[in-house]
Amino acid sequence: MASRVLTVLGFETSCDETAAAIVRRDPDGRGFILANQLLSQISEHRAYGGVVPEIAARSHIRHLDGLAAAALDDAALTFADLDGVAATAGPGLAGALIVGLMTAKGIALATGLPLIAVNHLEAHVLTPGLTEGLRPPYLVLLVSGGHTQTLGVAAVGEYCRYGTTLDDALGEAFDKTAKLLGLPYPGGPAVEQRAASGNSRRFDLPRPLVGRDNCHFSFSGLKTAVRHVAETLGTLTDQDIADIAASFQAAVTDTLTDRLGRAMDRFLADFRPADPVLVVAGGVASNQVLRHAIGALCAARGFRLSAPPPELCTDNAAMVAWTGAEHLARGTASPLDVPHRARWPLDRNAAPAPFAGVKG
Ligand code: KG4
Ligand code: ZN
Repeated sequence: MASRVLTVLGFETSCDETAAAIVRRDPDGRGFILANQLLSQISEHRAYGGVVPEIAARSHIRHLDGLAAAALDDAALTFADLDGVAATAGPGLAGALIVGLMTAKGIALATGLPLIAVNHLEAHVLTPGLTEGLRPPYLVLLVSGGHTQTLGVAAVGEYCRYGTTLDDALGEAFDKTAKLLGLPYPGGPAVEQRAASGNSRRFDLPRPLVGRDNCHFSFSGLKTAVRHVAETLGTLTDQDIADIAASFQAAVTDTLTDRLGRAMDRFLADFRPADPVLVVAGGVASNQVLRHAIGALCAARGFRLSAPPPELCTDNAAMVAWTGAEHLARGTASPLDVPHRARWPLDRNAAPAPFAGVKG
């Protein structure tokens, strides 16, 4: 373990956020964000109703250098003050990942700084170490546009995946439902807002996998059921949209809490923690109805609920820089020919989820 202060520059370009940040890790393991620059590409993708990989990659190329310079400026540092450079190397969109990783490699080659290729999932999972000094073991629920997983964190670098999605990610299900209802992208906030004035009992939508003896998730059947309801109604009134949104959100809530409850069982059996903690991360975790249900489940099961601040819950580069610093502190860095990995499961030993599609 490093007995010196480590200052790391990190890049995030795995999807539709271009980000550069600088984090300091003290020898006692505490972390501080010195700079956190981020540019969301949402407006560039909105017209297409989802992320267009080629547009994402080109936009990263246009903006990353400027954000890196701004981060160094914010922290009043130069490359000479850094101890390492980290970049998300996967999982994510290949063309997008390459931009951040190659930029970090270029800096490492030019300056001699160690390079750390970071797993994006690990960066989400380790964020509470930066934001509140949380130490393993803890349980994580990661629900974003690209991921839906429950993970037990045993130590930095040691993860146990309990559940993953067999098809769509939860954020993706919100986005597709929004699209079906004619609501704007990204769909999650729009669905939540419409659901607030809807009747969640009007449509009896499926609760996928509820009661099954595993921790996995599945959302594509629910999305198909929503499509069926919308097509049966034909032209949708504002009240129809609100009622479908509310019924969808209720189905998601029931499924998520059932699946998460199973993961809690597994986590408690594996770690027997005196003070169990559940960390929620990812854009979907900002949904207030879901958050409330998760809070109630935690209270019932004796877990403390921890959520990093919203801007560190969604994609950002501070989590990447922090993960780089955590690895550097343990003496691990990456070779300069480390590849990007569009798929990169965090738990190498996890059995493939049955019938898992690309998100498994
Ligand atoms: O973590 P995030 O910002 O980016 C990644 O996907 O990595 O998550 C974005 C996802 C989108 O699918 C968006 O629709 C969803 O999070 N989301 C929500 C809400 N806010 C964002 N889903 C449900 N309710 C929300 N309030
Ligand atoms: Zn993410």
